[in-house]
Amino acid sequence: MCGIVGFTGEKQAAPILLDGLSKLEYRGYDSAGIAVRDGDAPAEVVKAKGRLKVLAEMLDDGKALPGTCGLGHTRWATHGEPSKANAHPHVSGNCTGSGSGAVESDVVGVHNGIIENYQEIREKLLRRGYTFYSDTDTESIIKLVDYYYKKYGIGPVDALTRTMVRVRGSYALAVMFKDYPGEIYVARKDSPLIIGAGEGETFLASDVPAILKYTRSVYYIGNLEVARLTPGEVHFFDLNGDEIQHDTVEIAWDSEAAEKGGFEHFMMKEIYEQPRAVQDTLNSVVKEGRIDLTSVGLTDEEIRDISQITIVACGSAYHVGVAAQYVIEELARIPVRVELASEFRYRKPLLDPKGLVIVISQSGETADSLAALREAKQRGVPVLAIVNVVGSSIAREADKVFYTLAGPEIAVATTKAYSTQLIACDLLAIQFGRVRGLLEEERYLALIAELQTIPNKISRVLKDKERIQWFAAKFANAQDIFFIGRGLDYAISLEGSLKMKEISYVHSEAYAAGELKHGTISLIEDGTLVIGVLTQDHLYEKTVSNMVEVKSRGAYLMGLTSYGHYEMEDTANFTVYIPKTEEYFAPSLAVVPLQLMGYYISVARGLDVDKPRNLAKSVTVE
Ligand code: AGP
Repeated sequence: MCGIVGFTGEKQAAPILLDGLSKLEYRGYDSAGIAVRDGDAPAEVVKAKGRLKVLAEMLDDGKALPGTCGLGHTRWATHGEPSKANAHPHVSGNCTGSGSGAVESDVVGVHNGIIENYQEIREKLLRRGYTFYSDTDTESIIKLVDYYYKKYGIGPVDALTRTMVRVRGSYALAVMFKDYPGEIYVARKDSPLIIGAGEGETFLASDVPAILKYTRSVYYIGNLEVARLTPGEVHFFDLNGDEIQHDTVEIAWDSEAAEKGGFEHFMMKEIYEQPRAVQDTLNSVVKEGRIDLTSVGLTDEEIRDISQITIVACGSAYHVGVAAQYVIEELARIPVRVELASEFRYRKPLLDPKGLVIVISQSGETADSLAALREAKQRGVPVLAIVNVVGSSIAREADKVFYTLAGPEIAVATTKAYSTQLIACDLLAIQFGRVRGLLEEERYLALIAELQTIPNKISRVLKDKERIQWFAAKFANAQDIFFIGRGLDYAISLEGSLKMKEISYVHSEAYAAGELKHGTISLIEDGTLVIGVLTQDHLYEKTVSNMVEVKSRGAYLMGLTSYGHYEMEDTANFTVYIPKTEEYFAPSLAVVPLQLMGYYISVARGLDVDKPRNLAKSVTVE
């Protein structure tokens, strides 16, 4: 997820671009850049690694870069580590490694999204004499626009529509053509893009906050559409190049609400981004219905040789590991051990050099997880990292990396990153099972096909939001909340309990349902909320009996189970249902109501949901 902005009008563009990017830093902040044209002069491109302020200081807040037409970008790396060369804007010609200075390129552009077939496009263009200076998918699409523009001697709109037909993936693309000074052309598929209309000036941005200061009158460009922006005018075209009409919409949000996409908190926004994040992560390795781990760097031979797996992580990432243990052991029959990184690093673990250590981390900077990675490597064990931040310490030091494509996660309490980590582990389990001959082709393809339904099924769960909000509000003053489950349902309970604790400050425990009677059941009193998680049919009756045990001691029961188990309402006081799916994948659905429970109780208690007390987004110290 990145942020793009654009401006054409009579004012100086650079300050407007930098200001707009500052409102989009929540969309990505590992590098930034702008390209500005002064009249007919070629674009000046200035890029910088790090937060936006580095670029702003280089440009004296924009004063150092004259011109009234330009583009800007703040990056969240998905392809290519954070660096000046990989930062946007990208150009059709060659760009010095520093990525700054005037460029004589015919096409200069910025992009938000993921081009899935960028490698094949890159190879095609290399064969036609293009050279590349970056590792990004964006450079490929910019050069492809240039290729069509020159090959067919067509205008910018046609060059863009030809490009759109050729590429697969998602994009909000904004480009300037050397032969068309003062004009900006945009193309969109799936990624957000809005266009603002003012008096003699036109704006574009990934999101409303970037332009709200200048205009509340915006156009929403449709999917697979192109637009031509000139000062104060916008023309839209469909994929055939035919002109189409759009009306402007007046934005009522204030800037802060806009940054959260209209949600009250980043956490809720990110809960709602889970379908997209999971879809993007699936798309990164599922090609034509099969899993391809080339980008992860795991070969079939290496997969066949794995003797044991040790998963190491902290917090929610550790809970992903607990779930992954069940799925990998069942589908791939590889012994899996899950360890807290803070324990692993001091335990002198017994590791088989033919094993594999998997380190899971959203930030890629968690001190304990990084130390655990180094401990494993010191013992000669290969490390695979499942990480959300490209170029992070854990990503750089691991032998292999499976990047989750959750985009920047701003709320301290992880939601979409957790969900993409789950999916990554499911994908590994399926592929390991297939490569090691434990999954027949038909079952292999069926599992992948079912995984592909998870994004929509998460969206369906979110439709139950209001019911969960109503129930959560009844427990805003709870003192203790228990989450119980067996097998994968226990793993889900762990995450539900942590969400509750970390954002609502209500004491909570997750318990293996069968373990309650060995002591903890003494804590159950009249009205204690116990949330039973029952997504695993073979364990369903067992957990129901545990729920009955606590109910007989006064507990108030919430049941979380799959549609069809309507008899749950004979036992639970309140029941939440999730769509049926392969039981291995149930955590991806069951976690959503639990995220919402924690969120709504926190809101009901008037707490700072996005920045809970005592917590940091990334624990980079011991
Ligand atoms: C989860 O909501 C917490 N924010 C925390 O437990 C987090 O999962 C843990 O600190 C690990 O962080 P990482 O994934 O960045 O390594």
